[in-house]
Amino acid sequence: MTDGIVLTGLRKVYPLRGGDVVALDGIDLRVPRGAIHGIVGESGAGKSTLVRCVTALERPTSGTVLVDGEAVDAAGERDLRRVRRRIGMVFQQVNLFDARTAAENIAYPLRIAKVPAARRRERVAELLDLVGLAGRGGSYPAQLSGGQKQRVGIARALAADPSVLLCDEPTSALDAATTRQILALIRDVRDRVGVTVLIITHEMSVVREVCDSVSLLDRGRIVEHGPIGEVVGRHGTRLARELIPLPVTADSTTVEAAFAVEHTGEVFRAIGGIDGVAVAAGTVETLGGVRVGRLRLDVAPDRRAAALAALRQAGLHVTVAPGEEAA
Ligand SMILES: Nc1ncnc2c1ncn2[C@@H]1O[C@H](COP(=O)(O)OP(=O)(O)O)[C@@H](O)[C@H]1O
Ligand SMILES: [Mg+2]
Repeated sequence: MTDGIVLTGLRKVYPLRGGDVVALDGIDLRVPRGAIHGIVGESGAGKSTLVRCVTALERPTSGTVLVDGEAVDAAGERDLRRVRRRIGMVFQQVNLFDARTAAENIAYPLRIAKVPAARRRERVAELLDLVGLAGRGGSYPAQLSGGQKQRVGIARALAADPSVLLCDEPTSALDAATTRQILALIRDVRDRVGVTVLIITHEMSVVREVCDSVSLLDRGRIVEHGPIGEVVGRHGTRLARELIPLPVTADSTTVEAAFAVEHTGEVFRAIGGIDGVAVAAGTVETLGGVRVGRLRLDVAPDRRAAALAALRQAGLHVTVAPGEEAA
């Protein structure tokens, strides 16, 4: 049996009168138990469809979905209820019952599962503590901040002790500081209860803060994936560039260059020796244990071809805006 989430050849086609929509076009993905995996991609890439297939809210057109070794896609009604209890869901919109307290909201799934009242109270107290809301169980949603409501949402998702936590844009409605706190909470929950986490997001900053590994979804396909450290080391790829962004400069004569930080000294010596090249902006970051440097370089237009060749010769991974290479 394989713990975690395993998707194999997952396809989902929505038949529409104007023509079929291929939302997922052959997804293969393995998220081991206890990992935090990010799925990023633009609107319409298929992220929500993927989540709905994992929870069996949507039946795949073909392919398989395994959660802790159990086939979600083929589960009958009875099995489905059991499998779904192993999956906790967190959404952008928390959707709490306004007329119930935080504690009652968290207890709701336990009530549905017919957990006895005494055990329910005990579990709710544990969960409030886990999400940093000890003592706030009596508050109503209207008395809680956006971040606190999401904490209640996370506690509710964890109530039945799921082995998988699916988060669809969990922080998209929150400000930057609250987002960081909620992401820290998700990581803390993973560390303490060992849950496997799938985070769907359109924000690279979420991946940077919390994910161990990431997949980039584009028109229903995974076009890049891997552990964060590996992905950022693939200089010039879309994920590497978006995970380690450079300050904005508006100069069409610039090129971008990436390098392993161990080579910083050589890189700067080499750049110093190339005519017509100057550093316009730069950043050095550690992500997933890998240190990557990126530079934006001003290149004199008349020296361009020679300068690019010399930079590449020096071991830099050089990215030129489309259409400018030949200039
Ligand atoms: N219930 C549906 N019926 C028809 N088309 C759908 C349905 N849900 C999603 N789609 C289409 O499938 C594609 C992927 O959508 P979705 O999974 O919501 O992407 P994302 O969450 O990345 O924005 C889009 O083209 C969308 O219009
Ligand atoms: Mg979506």
